[in-house]
Amino acid sequence: MPDVTTASPVHRLEIRVDPPYLVHVGTGLLSSLAELVGTAVAAPSGICVVTDDAVAPHHAEAVRATLEALGTPVHLCVVPAGERTKRLQNYGDLLEALADARIDRGGLVVALGGGVVGDLTGFAAATYMRGVAYVQVPTTLLAMVDSSVGGKTGINLPAGKNLVGAFWQPRAVVADVSTLETLPAAVRRQGGVELFKAGLLGDPRLVRAFGTDMDFGLVVDRGGGELAALIARGVAVKAAVVAADPLEHGVRATLNLGHTIGHALESLSDHALPHGDAVAYGLLAAAEVGAARGLVDWRPHARRLLRWLDPGPLPTTTATALLERVARDKKQVGARRRFVLLQEIGEPIVVDDVSDGEITRAWQALEAVTR
Ligand SMILES: NC(=O)c1ccc[n+]([C@@H]2O[C@H](COP(=O)([O-])OP(=O)(O)OC[C@H]3O[C@@H](n4cnc5c(N)ncnc54)[C@H](O)[C@@H]3O)[C@@H](O)[C@H]2O)c1
Ligand SMILES: [Zn+2]
Repeated sequence: MPDVTTASPVHRLEIRVDPPYLVHVGTGLLSSLAELVGTAVAAPSGICVVTDDAVAPHHAEAVRATLEALGTPVHLCVVPAGERTKRLQNYGDLLEALADARIDRGGLVVALGGGVVGDLTGFAAATYMRGVAYVQVPTTLLAMVDSSVGGKTGINLPAGKNLVGAFWQPRAVVADVSTLETLPAAVRRQGGVELFKAGLLGDPRLVRAFGTDMDFGLVVDRGGGELAALIARGVAVKAAVVAADPLEHGVRATLNLGHTIGHALESLSDHALPHGDAVAYGLLAAAEVGAARGLVDWRPHARRLLRWLDPGPLPTTTATALLERVARDKKQVGARRRFVLLQEIGEPIVVDDVSDGEITRAWQALEAVTR
C-alpha cells in the first residue's frame, strides 16, 4: 500500500511467514537503507555486505556508507558476477569471509545484487553459525519480483541447478527501483518475463498493464514510480503464494508456471538460451496445453510476450528429447509430471496428468510459432 508521507510512494508489502517481514519497493530507497534495516534488525553486532563485481562499482560504497550510520563495522565482500558463482567454492569462501569479518550470531548479512548474490548470500546466512539475520537488497528486476522474496536460498552442483539449499527468510527486502537504471537492457527484459508470470498467476490487472494500453517494452522500460507500482503488484502475488505455502508443499509450485518446459529448454540449449527466454517459450507451451484442454486460452498473451522478447532460437531438438529432459527435472514428483496450467488468468492449477502427447503437441506449436 502506498506510503502517503513521501513524495514518491513507497510500497510496503508484508510477507506473512513466521516471523513476518516487509518488502519495501520504491525509488531512491538506498538512501534510507540504514533506517529500514535498523527497524528490521535491532542493533546488529557487525554487518557484511555481499555483492558482485558488476554491482559493486555502482552501489557498494554508498550502501556501506549508509549502513555505517547503524554504528557497527560494515565489511564488504565482492564475489564474481554470474551464475557460476553459485557454487560450493564461492559458498565456502563466503563463509570464511564472514568469519574473518568476525560476524557473530548477532550479526547481519546484506545481499546487494541479483538472484545469484541473493541465493548464495541467503544460503551462507542460513548456515553460518546455524543461521544469522540477512536482508535482501535486490538490484535486478528478476530479483525484485521473484528471488529476493520467499526465503529460497541455495547454490548449484555440477549435477544441476539449486541442488543444495535451505529455506531461510530475510528480515526485510529493500527494492530500490533506481538501481535498475544501470541494469543491461537484456537482463531487464529477462526479469520482465517473471513480472508477467506473476500477473498471469495472480493479477489480471498486471497482465492488462502489459497488454492493452501499452506494449511490453514500455512497461519494463518505464522508470521510477510507475515501474515500482508494477513491481509491487508482482511482489504481492508472490507474497500471497509464499504465505500460503512457505515450504513449497503445495500451492507454491504454481510459481513454476512456464518453468517445466522452460527449464528443459534451458538445459537442452546448454544454457545458451537465457532463463527468461526459455520461460517465455515455456509459458506458450503451458498455454497450448491449457487451450487444448478447454481451459482459458491465453496463447495470445504468451505469443505477444515472445514477440516483444525476441528470444534466442529454440534449441534444435525433438519432442522425445524434450520429454526426456522434463522427466529429469528435480521438481518432478516420482514418475508423475507436475505441470502448472491456468484455469483463468490469475487462477493457476497444478496437474500431474499431462501426457506425452500433450507435450508433443505443445512442442510442435512452439516450433510452428518460431519458424
Ligand atoms: N530464490 C529464488 O526463489 C529464485 C527465484 C528465481 C530465480 N532465482 C535465481 O536467481 C538467479 C538469476 O538472478 P538474476 O537474473 O538477477 O541474475 P544475476 O544475479 O546473475 O544478475 C544478472 C547480471 O546483472 C548484473 N547486475 C545485477 N544488478 C545490476 C545492476 N543494478 N546494474 C548493473 N548490473 C547488475 C549482475 O552482476 C549479473 O551480471 C538464478 O541463479 C536463479 O536460480 C532464485
Ligand atoms: Zn524463473
